[in-house]
Amino acid sequence: MYLGDADVPYTNYTSAEYAQAEYDHMWSKVWQWACHVDHIPESGDYYVYDVGPHSALIVRTTDGTIKAYYNACMHRGTQLRGAGTCGFAAQFKCPFHGWTWSLDGDLVDLPDRWDFPHVGDETHRLPQLQVDVFAGFVWVNFDPDAAPLQDYLGVLPAHFAEFDIDDRYVEAHLRKRLPANWKAAAEAFLEAYHVRETHATGKLGDEVTTQYDIFPPNISRFVHTSGLDSPQRPVPRTEQQILAHLTRNLRLGQEPLQLPEGMRARDFYAKYVQGEMSKKYGRDFSHLSESLTLDSIEYFAFPNAFFFPGLQLGMVYRFRPDPNSIDHSYFDLLMLRPRPLDGEVPPPPEVVELDVDDSYTLVPAFGGLGKVYDEDTSNMAAQTRGFRSSRKRGQTLGNYQEVRARHLQQRVREFLAAGGFTPAD
Ligand code: FES
Ligand SMILES: [Fe+2]
Repeated sequence: MYLGDADVPYTNYTSAEYAQAEYDHMWSKVWQWACHVDHIPESGDYYVYDVGPHSALIVRTTDGTIKAYYNACMHRGTQLRGAGTCGFAAQFKCPFHGWTWSLDGDLVDLPDRWDFPHVGDETHRLPQLQVDVFAGFVWVNFDPDAAPLQDYLGVLPAHFAEFDIDDRYVEAHLRKRLPANWKAAAEAFLEAYHVRETHATGKLGDEVTTQYDIFPPNISRFVHTSGLDSPQRPVPRTEQQILAHLTRNLRLGQEPLQLPEGMRARDFYAKYVQGEMSKKYGRDFSHLSESLTLDSIEYFAFPNAFFFPGLQLGMVYRFRPDPNSIDHSYFDLLMLRPRPLDGEVPPPPEVVELDVDDSYTLVPAFGGLGKVYDEDTSNMAAQTRGFRSSRKRGQTLGNYQEVRARHLQQRVREFLAAGGFTPAD
């Protein structure tokens, strides 16, 4: 989809007014996933999701339904649970004066009630945010008037119908502070144009063949093939060489795979991955296409959710602004795996927190990918400085390969415009 070719102003990333307008008019109105359903399996389990000044207290209530409350006491505003915390509560008692609400949001205790004849059970219930579940994640929207999640997600539910993505569990979860505005950080993962240069040492760049789609208003996608030679490769590889490349990250101690005569590496490897995953997770994946098995299929749900519904690369990303620095953001990276048909699924793992200079390779669950992600981080710091040192006032985007970044930027602007904010650029 062609979305225009005007430069994107650097002030979108560097202006404090712009960032404030995003909090006021965009983050307050979009659907965003807050946690996985497995984070709150039992009645009383809660999880706090924060983005900038906004904070949601998500809870599994007594009847098993999920509710979300604005995380602030109805007395004098104290947050009922700390930013980024999760745990179990029989009820929510404010740490300041002890006002207490049930899991269903009813005011059940108010010390010295005689002093508050003006407080009613209805007026001082905990107000609810909109909440819904999709793809195994709990989504919230801070706007009471927002359209339902299913409408917001457009094509996504239909596209995900064949992936069983809500039948996966969280195997690994890291959260890294990135040296870039949240939009620049997200945009580094919206295109594969950078792969040939940035990831050249990992030879990932040999395989750049990528399709980009926009599904307005909120969804975009790329499909980045694996196991096919790029047309840009000067000398084509043999199928055995391609197979060796595909299997380069297999665990040590495994025999190198031998490609049967006359078979394409991609066909052979897809069957191999399906077999290995079937053994590991006790499910049958032989019906999946090569693409659904091997390719890097990345869906983006504006403004900050990324899903890789393919079998081999089951990642989920989320980007959030750092409220204390416009030049930093928080990146959640989760690895999802198919829920075994028999056997227990472990509870969601502890989040491994990485600071700006900590390498992704510290988290073994992400294997060889850690090095690749580290290469992306070093670009971000340089780009962030360049936003301010540039003589040119904005960035020039490719019409096709970088259209998803333009889509993100345009969508932010639409929310800001609807909120009455006009950028200075
Ligand atoms: S601020 Fe919460 S009880 Fe007073
Ligand atoms: Fe990258």
